[in-house]
Amino acid sequence: MTATPTTATTDAPASAGFNGRTILVTGASGGIGAATVRQLAAAGAKVVASARTLESLASLCDETGAQPLAFDLTSEASIRDAVEGLELWGVVNCGGFGGEIATPQDTDIDVFDKVISINARGALLVIKYAVPAMIRQGGGAIVNVSSQASMVALHGHISYGSSKAALDNITRVSALELGKHNIRVNSVNPTVVMTDMSNFYWGRPEIGGPFLEQMPLGRWATVDDVAGPIVFLLSDAAAMITGASLPIDGGYTSR
Ligand SMILES: NC(=O)c1ccc[n+]([C@@H]2O[C@H](COP(=O)([O-])OP(=O)(O)OC[C@H]3O[C@@H](n4cnc5c(N)ncnc54)[C@H](OP(=O)(O)O)[C@@H]3O)[C@@H](O)[C@H]2O)c1
Repeated sequence: MTATPTTATTDAPASAGFNGRTILVTGASGGIGAATVRQLAAAGAKVVASARTLESLASLCDETGAQPLAFDLTSEASIRDAVEGLELWGVVNCGGFGGEIATPQDTDIDVFDKVISINARGALLVIKYAVPAMIRQGGGAIVNVSSQASMVALHGHISYGSSKAALDNITRVSALELGKHNIRVNSVNPTVVMTDMSNFYWGRPEIGGPFLEQMPLGRWATVDDVAGPIVFLLSDAAAMITGASLPIDGGYTSR
């Protein structure tokens, strides 16, 4: 006797297309942010690309059609004035500051305050002023660009790792609070990408070499290695994923 064939009942695969949904990307003048703007624009999103100056965004916006927006993540007034009026469907909190490489006993607490101010406080303020419009529109998605440094102890990363651990908590609590509004909130936690932020430290052979030897995939991430999962987490293909911190780390934190 032959088995009764199973009837396919699933819908067509969810599309990564954003159909004109408006998504704010902070840190858009930097390496990962610019790659994210390019991928989102290619996937049909209407992108608002932000950094501290319009000049730093001009060529990216010419290339992609993104709308430039300048504000400073250290200033609540600047964030409020820029973000409050936007009819957003989504947010990528990618703006960030690397701070210093220091031990706890050598840390410069002013640098610690600045790192926390940009990476954690700034991201929370963007969420605070973006979410009311997202609720009015019936839902959306947020991705916070965190780091592997939130998940494991890395030498010298006392300030930066603390800021990204705070950001992961902002992700989890925001996911808890906003789920009822159909808003998903996730983090991506990349390993090193050789942008301006990381090259000064990880580009040193005596630092980068031993690190890569301990990573299963044994190479640095590219900006598109990070932008791709950000776009996935924003998309409807990730409709059941919220509150997650997704390592993009070549397996480093899985060891
Ligand atoms: N590169 C890595 O290895 C790596 C690894 C893991 C996670 N990350 C995270 O990924 C994100 C992007 O990193 P990236 O490597 O692409 O950095 P990047 O090239 O150095 O760019 C940093 C971005 O943050 C913006 N920014 C800095 N301070 C700001 C402020 N006070 N107000 C508004 N914007 C500000 C910069 O804009 P301006 O033009 O205004 O300076 C720039 O767009 C960061 O959150 C970073 O922590 C990076």
